[in-house]
Amino acid sequence: MSDPVTPIGESPEWLEALEQASSIAELDRSVLIIGERGTGKELVGERLHFLSRRWNGPFIKVNCAALNEELLDSELFGHEQGAFTGATKRRIGRFEQADGGTIFLDEIATATQRVQEKLLRVIEYGEFQRLGGEDVLTCDVRVSAATNIDLPTAVEEGKFRADLLDRLAFDVITLPPLRYRLEDISLLADHFGSRMARELGVGFPGFSASAILALEAHDWPGNVRELKNVAERLTFNSLKVSMLDPIEFAPEVIDPFESPFRPKSRSTKLQKPAADTEFRLDPPPFDETGINFDSEIRLYETRLIETALKATSGHQGKAAEFLGLTYHQFRGLLRKHDLDSKKKREGDVGQPRPSM
Ligand SMILES: Nc1ncnc2c1ncn2[C@@H]1O[C@H](COP(=O)(O)OP(=O)(O)O)[C@@H](O)[C@H]1O
Ligand SMILES: [Mg+2]
Repeated sequence: MSDPVTPIGESPEWLEALEQASSIAELDRSVLIIGERGTGKELVGERLHFLSRRWNGPFIKVNCAALNEELLDSELFGHEQGAFTGATKRRIGRFEQADGGTIFLDEIATATQRVQEKLLRVIEYGEFQRLGGEDVLTCDVRVSAATNIDLPTAVEEGKFRADLLDRLAFDVITLPPLRYRLEDISLLADHFGSRMARELGVGFPGFSASAILALEAHDWPGNVRELKNVAERLTFNSLKVSMLDPIEFAPEVIDPFESPFRPKSRSTKLQKPAADTEFRLDPPPFDETGINFDSEIRLYETRLIETALKATSGHQGKAAEFLGLTYHQFRGLLRKHDLDSKKKREGDVGQPRPSM
């Protein structure tokens, strides 16, 4: 198998998550890795394995979302000949293959009740049965699991077994989204850019200062995976033109689907509320106390921002677009009105916000 990826990043949030993974690695318990897509869950899963006493054993990854119940059951636990239509031969499952090593269950929240039940048993007692089989088999496998959904909520909604969650979550590592790790953006961009240059067999001129600022201003819903794609595309496009000039940002690389010919049904244009209804704030009645112009303007701006954030489910980049502002203008307004939730959250734990 390929070597584990060297983790890049120096932000306190990322280092803390890595540190947690390193310290739990040697304990032979299940670990749950939570994070948005592209935050490095698989990378952390690999790290847990290679820093554990099982490092020399197999490391097997299974994506639970990719298979229906029967196929996932058979993938994980194997099946006997004739267990279902098409099961022409006995098949060894991933747990048997992972004996002495680690199994990484990606998108664990999508496992059905039947599979969840079998997982509980294999984690608790190391016992399982092949699909269609009678014999109880045993294995020695450490389980790590990843998800981007909130499992305690899934338990409350009856979609995930509470006892399985308890078993899985001996320790929970929650990975920070990239937008909370601004200082890692330039490190990661340089890492992926220089790798692309090496692949092309040329030197890496680095990103311009304004390119880094633009990368830091993006929200990165796809996190490190998205940044990797963008840094690679920027590098590739720039090196085609010049191998010496610093690499500049180009907004079109953020969305490779952007095109005037893009099929209409795929586009997700925001529904703007009618200007006269939602956005209008009537001036207060005039009376002898008069009107405080500044506070009325503040109220109006706050209202516009909140409406835009609500309409875009809190996506700041889209909210800015919605209001016809640049992302920087929008961020400026958030700070001005103290609506910056990132800043507030960081303020809560007493960490300074990295400068942008
Ligand atoms: N800190 C990091 N340093 C280097 N590469 C990273 C880092 N975090 C993520 N990556 C890379 O980004 C991509 C997405 O990471 P992955 O672990 O697959 O995310 P997830 O499983 O959370 O979707 C992979 O190519 C991975 O190697
Ligand atoms: Mg993944």
